[in-house]
Formats: sequence, C-alpha cells, structure tokens
Amino acid sequence: FRTLDDVDVKGKRVLLRVDLNVPMEGGRVTDATRLERVAPTITEISDKGGKVILLAHFGRPKGRDAKDSLKPVAAELAKVIKRPVGFADDCIGEVAAKAVGAMKDGDIHCLENTRFHKEEEKNDAGFVAELAKLGDIWVNDAFSAAHRAHATTEGLGHKLPAYAGRTMQAELDALGKALDAPTKPVIAIVGGAKVSTKIELLENLVSKVDALVIGGGMANTFLHAQGVAVGKSLAEKDLAATALRILDKANAANCAIILPVDAVVASQFAANAPSHAYGLDAIPTDGMILDVGPQSIARIHAAIDDAATLVWNGPLGAFELTPFDRGTVVSAKHAAQRTKSKKLISVAGGGDTVAALNQAGVGGDFTYVSTAGGAFLEWMEGKPLPGVEVLKHG
Ligand code: 3PG
Repeated sequence: FRTLDDVDVKGKRVLLRVDLNVPMEGGRVTDATRLERVAPTITEISDKGGKVILLAHFGRPKGRDAKDSLKPVAAELAKVIKRPVGFADDCIGEVAAKAVGAMKDGDIHCLENTRFHKEEEKNDAGFVAELAKLGDIWVNDAFSAAHRAHATTEGLGHKLPAYAGRTMQAELDALGKALDAPTKPVIAIVGGAKVSTKIELLENLVSKVDALVIGGGMANTFLHAQGVAVGKSLAEKDLAATALRILDKANAANCAIILPVDAVVASQFAANAPSHAYGLDAIPTDGMILDVGPQSIARIHAAIDDAATLVWNGPLGAFELTPFDRGTVVSAKHAAQRTKSKKLISVAGGGDTVAALNQAGVGGDFTYVSTAGGAFLEWMEGKPLPGVEVLKHG
C-alpha cells in the first residue's frame, strides 16, 4: 500500500483518520498514549505544508452528545504536539467546510466526533461523499479502529486516494513480524478472564505458533476440561468441549500448549487476600485461582527463553489485585529482559495487556506495544481488517 512517501502533501487538504478514543475522567484525558502515537504523522504532514484535517470518533454515542465531544481531546492533542489545533463543531456541512476553507498550508484542525452522525457507522455513501468534499486525499493512521468498516475508517478509502499514516505503517510492520512472517520459534501468551471472548483467537493461534501459554481465568476452563477440580475459580464449564477441541487442534498442529501446573489460590477475590500456592491436585474446594503459581512461572520463562518471537495478549492472573499480579509482572519483566538483550522480538496488545505491562514497568521495553484493543484481537484471530484492506485495494 501507499504511504506518505508516495504523495506530495504540500497544499493538499489531508483527511487524516486518527484514533482519539482516549480514556477520560471528569473531562480530562487520563492516558495520552494514543495521542503521542499519532503525533509523528500529524507533524510530518503539517511540516510538509499539508492541511491536516483530523477525523476521529469518541466513545459510542447515539447521535450528538456533548459528553462525547472531541473538543477537550483536541486541546490535549495540541499540548502533546506543541502546536495549535483548531476545532470545528461538526465533521460535515457548512461548519466543517468553513473551517477547512480557512485553513492555511501546515494548519491542523480537528473535526467533531464522526459518530455524532449515525451514517458514520453505517458507512453511508452520502456521508462519505460529504466528508470527501473536505479533502484531496485520505490518510488512515488509526490501526486501532481498522476493524470497523465505517465511513471514516474504510469508506473514504474508496472515494479518495488512500495512504497509510506512519503509525499505521509501524503497527503493520510490527504485527507482520510477529505472526505473518515471524522469526521462529514463535510463542503466544494469552490470558484474560474468559475463553468465550477468545475462542477464534486461540483457534487461529494454535495453527500459527509453536507454543501457546494459556493463563488468567481462561486457563481454569481448560484445567476443568482436563478434569482438574478448580474449586470456586472462575471457569466457563459449559465451554469444556470447546477447550478440548482447541487442545486437539493444537496437538494436530504441533503447537505446544503450556497450561498452569500450579496456582495461587485465595478464598476471596480481593487485594491482599491471604493466599497459597497449590499443585493442581490440591486446589481447595472453597478456593479461587487468582494467579499462576511459581512452577508455572518457571515453565513460562523457560518457554519464553526457547522462543525468538513473542505475541502477548491478556494478563496471566488477576493483575489488578496485588499480589495476584505477580505472574504477569515477572513474566513481562522476563520477556522485556530477553528483548533488551536482543534475543526476543516481543509484541503485545489489547486493553488490559498494555495496562499490565505498564504496571510491570516494561511497556517501553517490548519491541512493540499496540494501543489497539478490539482491532488487535481481530488481527490475532486472523481476520482481515477493513481499514487495512482498503489501503491495499483502494
Ligand atoms: C478502540 O478504542 O478500541 C477503538 O477506538 C475502537 O472503538 P470502538 O470499539 O468503539 O469501535
């Protein structure tokens, strides 16, 4: 696909799709990572004399809703990029046209939440045409919204010359090296609470990776399926057959499955609840598995040592509760260490995963940490992402 290297943006009106869907509390941005990620594309286009017209969604509003305005986010973005960012109260119509019409080369302007129009999510042709009037080219820098076939994430790519932004390029490059054309052997670590949300992901991974570590609450479902008494642990017992099918598929594909061999168990789901490590044959009937145990951690570390590439999604235990973050934190540190000593290519993504790596203090030490949530999962499921496909085919 084409990138900013393939177009002279000088004097052009560039409709730049970014992901400004940042966490906010009380009207303030609490994590500006996504803003920092899109900064290089914005400043590059601006420096080259393009007019940067930012398109983005925020939240999941049903129609116009002041609490989902992008105005405070645009103000925060201006601080991050240290340049003025104008704002228009609508992304189409007279308001938008007037704002764009007044822009000079190099100016940066953010248009209001595209989801204030229901036509955005419908990828409505009329809405796409309205948006397209505002720009000469479309640049997509929102990998994390690329699983949505919406007007600004996909539709515009059929209407205007389409290019990948720098963050999109970096993301696709990193993800490609992790699963599509990786240095082998490849290990995946998948955690999180539920198997039900990750069935397709696990099925895809077992056919692609050499080893798969399953942790978090979802490991309990697998252990239960194998006949382990998991006490009061979170487990989706109705998915036992699915879990066994995934194990069979892994076996047929020569993918080694690494499940916990011991567990840290407490009787309450609470920070600092008294806890003990038990072997799988001794989980107390009134106990809850809240983390992987020390022997499991040793196995996970050994498996990481055997790998050249790591893809990680989801915490290994209840990482939001100390000390049940231990398995996740020490394994993340181990992977970070291997990465720093150039023995491992490590890619991680998904909402909780980034928070967990940051909690371990190693987010910056992985080869690449994606800020994508749903899009990262769909990529791990092996699904084509509409916002990426359109860049390939136009
Ligand atoms: C995200 O936050 O993962 C993206 O911005 C996509 O948001 P959505 O799930 O509301 O489409």
